Amino acid sequence: MKRIFSGIQPTGEIHLGNYVGAIRNWTYLQDEYDCVFCVVDYHAITIEYPVEEMKKRTLDTAIILLACGLSPERSKIFVQSHVPEHTELAWIFNTVTPIGEVERMTQFKDKARQHRANINMGLMDYPVLQAADILLYKAGYVPVGEDQVQHIELCREVARKFNTRFAPIFPEPEELLSMAPRILGVDGQSKMSKSLGNYIGILEEEDVVWEKLRTAVTDVNRVRRKDPGNPEVCNIYTIHRAFSDNAMLIEIDKGCTSAGIGCIDCKKMLFENVKRELTPVREKARELEKNMDYVVDVLEKGADACREIADATMEEVRATLGLYPPR
Ligand code: TYM
Repeated sequence: MKRIFSGIQPTGEIHLGNYVGAIRNWTYLQDEYDCVFCVVDYHAITIEYPVEEMKKRTLDTAIILLACGLSPERSKIFVQSHVPEHTELAWIFNTVTPIGEVERMTQFKDKARQHRANINMGLMDYPVLQAADILLYKAGYVPVGEDQVQHIELCREVARKFNTRFAPIFPEPEELLSMAPRILGVDGQSKMSKSLGNYIGILEEEDVVWEKLRTAVTDVNRVRRKDPGNPEVCNIYTIHRAFSDNAMLIEIDKGCTSAGIGCIDCKKMLFENVKRELTPVREKARELEKNMDYVVDVLEKGADACREIADATMEEVRATLGLYPPR
């Protein structure tokens, strides 16, 4: 069975982009692959963060993964810092990664712009740690949103460099994109993201979700209700594609392009479908919050299982590097 690895940062608030771009896809893949899913706390510390909130954010993220349907019976779910081999392998990969390759990463450039006061080595090394996450488990596939594709390309490059210089022990993993790999925020301009504040959180209350949807930007050229719209350039239609069935998509396409329906009608339909899918997730998350022993237990068992794999890989890596082993 091929192995899958993917990760998510513990931002504490997981949004619709994370959900349809990645997490929902992870739940489908659990049946076909040997899955490893990680809350990547060491990635999250590369930007300023409230130290006192990190534990809660990490647990909240794990709760969301479980509430969305990741199952500890079928997947290993754990916290990155519980398996220190991730950072150990990242150090080794640093020695085969050309600086030029990490400098040209779009995400690094964006984050360096956003966090001018703290452009630290970790921010630059971020994709190397990501390569270590994936290759520590020799994963063949990495289900992610479109924004991570460049990092997976770098991961392949790191594997190639290591394999050529030392010995061919790592696979070159491929990204797996969901059917909605890039969701824009409610501003209709930039990728939905927590840091830009243009997101809809998957655990947000219904009235908050509706208010955000109601005021979300659609086709900017559709100024009046009687103007026909173009679903292809409308972010609400993109989100519909992730939540609505074909019959509804056809109905909306026809209604929008003929001005038969207005943006608010279209948004109401979307809201109903989002609600239908996310209400059970929210209820499950509330249940899990009351059962923290279970959540902690899942993470502990996940880390135990991952440490075993990580340990074996690191032994192989150290031998490949020709390091002098302890007795
Ligand atoms: P992160 O935490 O930013 O996002 C988690 C997943 O959600 C996807 N995503 C989106 N998909 C569609 N539309 C959006 N607006 C959107 N926003 C986020 C991301 O592509 C991602 O799949 N570097 C990674 C975490 C990571 C990782 C890894 C992933 C660390 N190590 C190893 C894969 C393998 C990140 O910051 O994801």
